[in-house]
Amino acid sequence: MSPRGAPRRSASETSPSQPKILVLSGPNLDRLGTREPHIYGKTTLAEIHASLAEVARAQRVSVDCRQSNHEGDLVSWIGKAGDDGFAGILLNAGAYTHTSYAIHDAIKGSPLPVVEVHLSNPEAREAFRHVSVIAAVCVAKVAGFGSDSYRTALEALLRRLAS
Ligand code: DQA
Repeated sequence: MSPRGAPRRSASETSPSQPKILVLSGPNLDRLGTREPHIYGKTTLAEIHASLAEVARAQRVSVDCRQSNHEGDLVSWIGKAGDDGFAGILLNAGAYTHTSYAIHDAIKGSPLPVVEVHLSNPEAREAFRHVSVIAAVCVAKVAGFGSDSYRTALEALLRRLAS
């Protein structure tokens, strides 16, 4: 609290009327930076989140960035995001991209636009990565730009929401 009793607001905080974007990363993405850097790069997830917060500050929106290794967390976060006041979702579901009908159904049941995000280009990799079971229920996909995929996806989603 400030000396006069009003709650302190950090520089990145925005007013309640400004759009909030939920950024979700799935299994093993907490290990970015050290996990297969020749594929995923050396940027950590914390650094990606900091870069998204910078874009959000410049565009007067807010981002809430979360990571889980558990499918159910991702399903619950997607399911609640509309009621929680989010305007859209960026989702890197990691390997659940290729397997999770539960995440597919959560996206399908959400009123929010969801953008599928990948650091690598899954379609240029092993055959099991060529199928995305979530692509058909997402509004768009950004893949193959390394850590820039997240930033590019956020900027494009914000343009879409503003138009
Ligand atoms: C990934 C691609 C997936 O195939 C893989 O399982 C991941 C990361 C990406 O960001 O490139 O964990 O989603």
